[in-house]
Amino acid sequence: MKNVNGLRRILFFFVMFFFGIFCFWLKELDVLRTDVRLLPICYPGYVASKAAALISNYSRDHPIFLQMSDFFWVKNQSYYNLPYGTNGSEDVIMKFLAFANQNHFPPEIERLPCKRCVVVGNGFRLKNSSLGDVIDKYDIVIRLNNAPINKYQRDIGSKTTMRFFYPESSNFNPHFDTNPNSLLVLVPFKSQDLRWMKIIINDEKRGGKDFRFMPRVVWTLGSQNIRVLNPYFMEVAATRMLNHNQTEIKSKPTTGFLAITFALHFCDLVHVAGFGYPTSVNDTEPLHYYSSETLKSMDPAHDTLQEGEILKMFMQHQVIQNLTRV
Ligand SMILES: *[C@@H]1O[C@H](CO)[C@@H](O)[C@H](O)[C@H]1NC(C)=O
Ligand SMILES: *[C@@H]1O[C@H](CO)[C@@H](O)[C@H](O)[C@H]1NC(C)=O
Ligand SMILES: *[C@@H]1O[C@H](CO)[C@@H](O)[C@H](O)[C@H]1NC(C)=O
Ligand SMILES: *[C@@H]1O[C@H](CO)[C@@H](O)[C@H](O)[C@H]1NC(C)=O
Ligand SMILES: *[C@@H]1O[C@H](CO)[C@@H](O)[C@H](O)[C@H]1NC(C)=O
Ligand SMILES: *[C@@H]1O[C@H](CO)[C@@H](O)[C@H](O)[C@H]1NC(C)=O
Ligand SMILES: *[C@@H]1O[C@H](CO)[C@@H](O)[C@H](O)[C@H]1NC(C)=O
Repeated sequence: MKNVNGLRRILFFFVMFFFGIFCFWLKELDVLRTDVRLLPICYPGYVASKAAALISNYSRDHPIFLQMSDFFWVKNQSYYNLPYGTNGSEDVIMKFLAFANQNHFPPEIERLPCKRCVVVGNGFRLKNSSLGDVIDKYDIVIRLNNAPINKYQRDIGSKTTMRFFYPESSNFNPHFDTNPNSLLVLVPFKSQDLRWMKIIINDEKRGGKDFRFMPRVVWTLGSQNIRVLNPYFMEVAATRMLNHNQTEIKSKPTTGFLAITFALHFCDLVHVAGFGYPTSVNDTEPLHYYSSETLKSMDPAHDTLQEGEILKMFMQHQVIQNLTRV
C-alpha cells in the first residue's frame, strides 16, 4: 500500500513538473510571437551591405565616440574643423577627454549579435500615434535634443539608449527624460561646446554669454553617461549623404539627419518615427509633438527639403523604414 502511494506521489510530481515546463514553453512562445509581430527579423549586416551601395566610401571602421587614444598618436588628421572634423580642436578635445574619457557602450549593447534601432524624431506626427510600446521594443532607441518623454510615453515610449544633443538643446529633464543607463551623446559644433560640457559636469563657475540660448545650468548626471560623437558622422552626413560641395559645406545637417547617418553606420536594422516636416512655412501644423511652434521657428541654416529627399531615397531602397507611415 505504502509503495503504491509513493508511486502515485512520484507520478503526481512528474505530471506537475512537465505541466510546468509546458506552461513555461507556452509563455515563451507567446513572448516570441509578440516580438515577431512587432519587430521584423534582424539580419546581421543587412543595413551595412545596403548602405555601402548608396554611400560613397562607406566604412564602419571609425570610432563612434571621441577617445583619448586617437589624439595621442594622431593617425588620421582631420581635414575639417568642427562640426565636421577635429582639425584645430585637438587641444580642447584632449583636455575634455582627460577627465571624461568614456567611449564604450554598455555591455548589453556591445554583445548584441544584431542591432535593431529606431531613431525617434520630434515631429508632430507622433502625436496620438500610440507607438510607445512599439518603440520601446527596439534594442536601441535614439532620441534627439530636448525631446520630452514624461507625459508622452504612450506615443513615443520611454526607453532611451542614446540621446543626441548640443548645449543649446540640452534642456531636457535628466530625471524624467532619460534612463539611468542612457548615453548622453554630445554633438560638438564648436570647441566651446566641449568647454561647456566640462563646466557643467564639474559644476564649475559659468557664464552663458557664448551661447545662443542659456544652456541648462543643472546637470545631475555624472560623466559616466556622457559621450562625444565622432565628428566623422557629421562629415559623412554633410558631404556624402547630402552631397554638399566637399570644400564648402553650406548647410548643417539636422540632429535627426545626423542620428540616421550614425544609425546607418552602427545598426543592422534602421527604423525611423516622427520624421517629416509640415508642407510649407506658413503651415499652421506644429513642428513638434510637444509644442505649438511651427516651421517658421526652424533654423533656416538647415536644408530640410534636401534631407527629406535623401531619406525618401533610402526608404525606397529599403534601407530605412518609416514607422509613422500608416
Ligand atoms: C573615397 O576614397 C578615395 C580614396 O581614399 C578618395 O580619393 C575619394 O576622394 C573618397 N571619396 C569621398 C566622397 O570621400
Ligand atoms: C583613416 O582613414 C582611412 C580612410 O578613410 C580609414 O580606412 C581608417 O579607418 C582611418 N583610421 C582611423 C584610425 O580612423
Ligand atoms: C587643418 O586646417 C588647417 C587650417 O585650415 C589646414 O591648413 C590644414 O591642412 C588642415 N589639416 C588637415 C590634416 O587637413
Ligand atoms: C489627439 O487626441 C486628442 C484626444 O482624443 C484630440 O483632442 C486631439 O485633437 C488629437 N490630436 C491629433 C493631432 O490628432
Ligand atoms: C565648391 O566650392 C568651392 C568654393 O566655393 C568652389 O571653388 C568649387 O568650384 C565648388 N565645387 C563644385 C563642384 O561645385
Ligand atoms: C502660404 O504661402 C504661399 C506662398 O507664399 C501662398 O500661396 C499660400 O496661399 C499660403 N498659404 C496659407 C494657408 O496662408
Ligand atoms: C513618414 O510617413 C509619414 C506619414 O505618411 C509622412 O508624413 C512622413 O513625411 C514620412 N517621413 C519621411 C521622412 O518620409
